[in-house]
Amino acid sequence: MSEPRKLYVRSFGCQMNVYDAQRMTDTLAREGYVETETPDDADLVILNTCHIREKAAEKVYSELGRLKKAQEEAGRRQMIAVAGCVAQAEGAEIIKRARAVDLVVGPQSYHKLPELIAQAEARGSNRRAGIVETEFPLEDKFDFLPAPTPAAIARRGPTAFVTVQEGCDKFCTFCVVPYTRGAEVSRPLAKILDEVIRLAEGGVREVTLIGQNVNAYHGIDSTGGAANLAELVRRVAQVPGIARVRYTTSHPRDMDDELIAAHRDMPALMPYLHLPVQSGSNRILAAMNRRHDRELFFDIVERVRAARPDTAFSSDFIVGFPGETDEDFADTLDLVAKVGFASAFSFKYSPRPGTPAASLEAQLPEDVKSARIHALQALLDRQKAAFDEACRGKRFDILLEKPGRFPGQLIGRSPYLQSVVVEAPKEAIGTLARVEIREVSTKSLAGDILDGEFFSARPAGESRLIGQDEIVGEKLEA
Ligand code: SAH
Ligand code: SF4
Ligand code: F3S
Repeated sequence: MSEPRKLYVRSFGCQMNVYDAQRMTDTLAREGYVETETPDDADLVILNTCHIREKAAEKVYSELGRLKKAQEEAGRRQMIAVAGCVAQAEGAEIIKRARAVDLVVGPQSYHKLPELIAQAEARGSNRRAGIVETEFPLEDKFDFLPAPTPAAIARRGPTAFVTVQEGCDKFCTFCVVPYTRGAEVSRPLAKILDEVIRLAEGGVREVTLIGQNVNAYHGIDSTGGAANLAELVRRVAQVPGIARVRYTTSHPRDMDDELIAAHRDMPALMPYLHLPVQSGSNRILAAMNRRHDRELFFDIVERVRAARPDTAFSSDFIVGFPGETDEDFADTLDLVAKVGFASAFSFKYSPRPGTPAASLEAQLPEDVKSARIHALQALLDRQKAAFDEACRGKRFDILLEKPGRFPGQLIGRSPYLQSVVVEAPKEAIGTLARVEIREVSTKSLAGDILDGEFFSARPAGESRLIGQDEIVGEKLEA
């Protein structure tokens, strides 16, 4: 038998790229490819790229340069494919700029990878004739992407992303996503549930439902009607084995009453909401075409907190949007101070080709953007530190995910996605443990498992405390 071919996928950007990388790997596993940890011994390297900011998009070219150099030094030939949002946005330009590339494939065509690779192979070393596939095909790629094998699910651990919605119709004036991912499409409810059932059977305990605009989800249900995200979350939480559900990324405009009620009614829905606001200035929000004001954001925060008081928030911010004044920026700091975030991402505005904001005249100088991002991040860092500190002495269910740095340690996640280090046997991976937080540092928390309190993750999404000798499958020694 011939040696299996080796595949190395490197993902940049958001969680959807992480999910897509897995689906590409699953697709190519059928063609005999096995994953490898480094590009050095790979027969096929896929760079799964992000176009959101200039820095993200440029990374692909430096990576391609590195790959080309390594190939020349080792005197070997690898096939190189560029996938993801840079592939979609730049297409044939990539092959012009980086001759090492054999194949460019946009996010809606991953199901075609086997045939595209075969075409590229047929062209051999004639790289000038690189293959470019960036159409938005009529067929739904999800109908053709094979499911992961039980072994692949087990290897990926007890948490999983599931794409439920892709694309965006919002057209914020700074953003490339509506162009790179296309129009909003929701997957049918039944197909998502099938995928979650399979994951749960493979040992997954926590599912994060992902979409560029996930709370606009409206997938077709068994009656031919449309299910919203609240309904989808409810159904996913009912899948035996699933203990925790999250969703990301939401838009404030689509936080409807039913979804907020789900935060009250469903214990499996984690009390942690990532809700990008971008700016605290109504003038800038309007210029960004966010189609809501700061008052709506405050209102949502208040209603979610009323529904579930232990909810913590995270968000995304952009500073230095064209025309942003000191007063506008002060409004952002004020919004942050009023809400209090457990965590957040903040970015300097980066003009993106083809987006309306890129051609606005009032672009701000780099030093203004830098000063503002520093001020904002200092405030957000203080809030994060305060939130983490307030967790000291608290008791949480921690989903144990993987081995820690030292023998006998495991790392799990709190409901707020904090990493928590505990002492536990490796057989406990994939279970929930009741943990009291003892130590807090900038990167992680540490805690003690309360007397052998491990949980299974059944039934119906509510973790049930189980006796020490009836732990599913294996007996655990705490
Ligand atoms: N769909 C999500 C997030 C999309 S991209 C949403 O609606 O919010 C993730 C984050 O990148 C955005 O929330 C925004 O904060 C940031 N971002 C997007 N375009 C950007 C740009 N041109 N410059 C700087 N940051 C940007
Ligand atoms: Fe981009 Fe706005 Fe769509 Fe989010 S909602 S993906 S920021 S256009
Ligand atoms: Fe980047 Fe595309 Fe995600 S631009 S953030 S990889 S949707």
